Amino acid sequence: MTLEFHCTAASPSCVHFELPVMQPGHSPTDHPLFAGSVYQRAHFHPAKPKELLMATTTVQAGYEGDYVQRFQFFLQHSGEHTVMREFMDKVLPGEFARIGEGKSDLNFLGVGSGQGEMDSHMLNILQSKFPTTQIDAHIVEPSIALIENFKASVAKSPNLQKVPFAWNAVSCAEYEKQVKDTKDTKRFDFMNMIQMLYYMDDYAAAIKFFHSLLREKGRLMIIHEAAGSSWATLWSTFAKDLCTKSVTKYISAADVKGKLDKLGLKYEEHSIPNTMDITECFVEGSKLGAMLLDFMTDQDSFQKAYSPEMRAKILDLLRDKCSTEKNGRRLFDCSLTCFLIQA
Ligand SMILES: C[S@@+](CC[C@H](N)C(=O)[O-])C[C@H]1O[C@@H](n2cnc3c(N)ncnc32)[C@H](O)[C@@H]1O
Repeated sequence: MTLEFHCTAASPSCVHFELPVMQPGHSPTDHPLFAGSVYQRAHFHPAKPKELLMATTTVQAGYEGDYVQRFQFFLQHSGEHTVMREFMDKVLPGEFARIGEGKSDLNFLGVGSGQGEMDSHMLNILQSKFPTTQIDAHIVEPSIALIENFKASVAKSPNLQKVPFAWNAVSCAEYEKQVKDTKDTKRFDFMNMIQMLYYMDDYAAAIKFFHSLLREKGRLMIIHEAAGSSWATLWSTFAKDLCTKSVTKYISAADVKGKLDKLGLKYEEHSIPNTMDITECFVEGSKLGAMLLDFMTDQDSFQKAYSPEMRAKILDLLRDKCSTEKNGRRLFDCSLTCFLIQA
């Protein structure tokens, strides 16, 4: 049996080891997505190797294993990245022109970037706006598997070859500690947190911390499920039954907006409308419907996770309150809200 060790230099003085710890029925060869594994994460300073064991903690990125495939399926079915790209193409060129005006270099930060599809798109827009300006990209993403996929896609993107990437395979909280411990003075012109605040213990504290890292004229962009969307209706109605896995407390853009106001931050708000066809959820025996229901309820198997009565309640809500009918199809409102927060 071979154990794989992944090492990334999170900062020059801090080495980061991640060891997949097996759960019953799993083997290390479940790699590359480490299906079902929990990571033991250990930080240590090369000068003090004895601290390795003392500092070892068990951390879950909250978004790994089978969930990654379910998210990819959702992205394809919902067109979520497509509507985000269209929105970015419309809004970001103007934003970037204003942010970068008169600057000799630009620092970009992606937080919870996953496989980086959106970060790469934004970096392309930034580069086309400032083709001769030095652009540095920093990524904070706790899932080693997703960061590896992101790196592989960067390696294949001719446009991104001139951009140096700093990969931080850590959570927001760990990154914050790292910045504070090393007194890192790096500041950023543009940062994004897309569809990731659900997984944070204290998302308001994270927003406050990352906002403090903005350079003059910088922007922190948050994209999150819209208030009043079908997601918000489904997840707030059945919070007790759904918030049992990677998401322990559902938050919609209304909650995020409340926190931004409380923090006294200035922002612009944009709507990114989108719908997803969930007709198949109501078709008995439909594989597509089953996959959608697994993703929408954040369960490995919607069928196995809930009693027949509970499944019926969820399906009733999806039909009556979370979807509208159009040309014989049932459409689920998965609109998003974008906050562009000023430095
Ligand atoms: C739904 S995915 C969104 C990925 C990407 N931003 C996108 O929209 O395609 C959520 C991301 O948040 C990351 N994540 C989860 N917990 C996190 C934490 N505490 N700090 C930073 N990122 C986290 C996950 O690993 C995952 O990549």
